[in-house]
Amino acid sequence: FRTVIEPFRIHSVEPLRMTTAAQRRTKAAEAHYNLFQLHAEDVLIDLLTDSGTGAMSRDQWAAIQHGDESYAGSPSYYLFRDAVRHLFPYEHVIPTHQGRAAEKIFFGVLGGPGKVVPSNTHFDTTRANIEFTGAEAVDLVIPEGHDPSLVHPFKGNLDVDRLEALLTERGDDVPVVMLTVTNNSGGGQPVSLDNIRAVCEIAHRHGKPLFLDACRFAENAWFIKEREPGQADRDVVSIIQDMAACADGMTMSAKKDPMGNIGGWLALQDDELAAACRNLLILTEGFPTYGGLAGRDLEALAQGLKETVSHDYLRYRIRSTAYLADALEHAGIPCIKPAGGHAVYIDAKAMLPHIDPLHFPGQALSVALYETGGVRACEIGSVMFARQPDGSEKPAAMELVRLAIPRRTYTQSHIDYVIEVCEQVKARAGDLRGYRIVEEPPALRHFTARFAPM
Ligand code: F0G
Repeated sequence: FRTVIEPFRIHSVEPLRMTTAAQRRTKAAEAHYNLFQLHAEDVLIDLLTDSGTGAMSRDQWAAIQHGDESYAGSPSYYLFRDAVRHLFPYEHVIPTHQGRAAEKIFFGVLGGPGKVVPSNTHFDTTRANIEFTGAEAVDLVIPEGHDPSLVHPFKGNLDVDRLEALLTERGDDVPVVMLTVTNNSGGGQPVSLDNIRAVCEIAHRHGKPLFLDACRFAENAWFIKEREPGQADRDVVSIIQDMAACADGMTMSAKKDPMGNIGGWLALQDDELAAACRNLLILTEGFPTYGGLAGRDLEALAQGLKETVSHDYLRYRIRSTAYLADALEHAGIPCIKPAGGHAVYIDAKAMLPHIDPLHFPGQALSVALYETGGVRACEIGSVMFARQPDGSEKPAAMELVRLAIPRRTYTQSHIDYVIEVCEQVKARAGDLRGYRIVEEPPALRHFTARFAPM
């Protein structure tokens, strides 16, 4: 059949609160045109992030009832550990409350002034946690990864020549090589198994461990199955196990592919490194068998890990994201190509060429999507990245608006509505005006800055 259906039916529903365009214009003004400041009840379709916003299944809610809240040695921990190990067979599995907590601990041990950590593209929290220790975070994605309209099957691949050069020149300063799958900051683009193997070979030849930032590992594995020669007939579980076998460990946000509303982990082979990480874990997260999570959360994640590798689920997941991207392309709305696994990224610079990058075309588009149809997206452009450490403003490389799709949450008619809202905004794109910032904090300004229309 041509139609790829949602491989589930709805069991418990959550009402959406309808609002009028006039009400939304008032709400946007009251939020000083910062969509992070809206009450979520005033949003109709929330595409701010796919992180922790997915719908849990009947079986995950049942697993929650099974949670054991023992402080130490809970059976829920061992269930969770074994579910992780089935896919990522690392010796040490250390739960944390979310991904950035795993990063904070990991780079707390391995980072420090003078160190340099390469990746295809570090996610913001990974970069921030590396830089917080005084180390440098370096992005080495292939050149194709920087061109929004270029179609390439694995735009998340790491440039192996640049990695080889970095390790040859500054090998002593590199504690670990990272690889983000899929590459969120680069448009949710996958990394090929071939590239993972090549990065592994180079890292190991230089005596360096390879760690995956594996938040969207299942989506990445599905892309490998669909796009990489020789992989089509394989089970995604065995592809994931191959990805895992190349690496020495992982940092993880369980709020993405593992279908959790909260959670994360750090998993690794090395005993000494694991002991050092557990020592830091106890300071902030908790005892190593719960690490900032309740026993019931660990049970929900163990079940989520089984569900996320279902072929029916992944086929629907990747197709439904591409469905949105295809419709936007058909409507003449420029997007990063090809569609990512978890999100579609509109190229606001191309859509609103009359708005100067420092008047924030991505912000203008995001506010217009909200005012027009109650759709909340996320600006990933100069609001997020233009402010330089010396206080000056330098336009970001790309002005993107991310429409991130929560897992199993919205139906096709919701997405059809989003498409219609995008089309309406495009029809009056020439009338949209930029914004200026009237108040901002010293760091991470996108969360709290106040804007005024130009
Ligand atoms: N790594 C990647 C690739 C991520 O996308 C995220 C979170 C993290 C690490 C941090 O995990 O949120 O559990 O602490 N990404 C979310 C997003 C916030 O909207 O893309 P966390």
